[in-house]
Amino acid sequence: MVEYKGKCVIDLQVNGETRTATVRPSDVLLDVLREQFGLTGAKPGCKNGDCGACTVLMDGWPVKSCLVLAVEAAGHAVTTIEGLQNVPLQKAFVDCEAFQCGYCTSGFLMVCHSLMTQHPDARESVIEDWLQANLCRCTGYSEIRNALRTVLPD
Ligand code: FES
Ligand code: FES
Repeated sequence: MVEYKGKCVIDLQVNGETRTATVRPSDVLLDVLREQFGLTGAKPGCKNGDCGACTVLMDGWPVKSCLVLAVEAAGHAVTTIEGLQNVPLQKAFVDCEAFQCGYCTSGFLMVCHSLMTQHPDARESVIEDWLQANLCRCTGYSEIRNALRTVLPD
């Protein structure tokens, strides 16, 4: 990390690429992803850690990027929705009609993708725990659960 006029120049590993950003110590990862890297898939919702619309993965685990300082993300592998290309989960969301306006969808996809990776044998209680991290104002949550179930092994 290099300091420059009160800002820091940091390298972030995002979707398998090294990206350089000039940030204030207080800048959060969500804003850097969107404003400096043009990765707008992570959405600002509450910006308070409650809604999950801003969810990305750090080293494979979901984090709310509105609560992570950009400088904290240096040295970790960050994955955004733009880094999930053609995973079956995305088609499952379409097939199960697991979204309406879509604002929450990238966050849900990141949480569900991490759940499939970290707990491929997840049962109902684990699925419920993980999905509680994200809010959707449009759908019943049953469509989102259904989409996830179609890609989890029996
Ligand atoms: S915008 Fe980050 S949790 Fe709502
Ligand atoms: S689909 Fe609209 S908020 Fe979830």
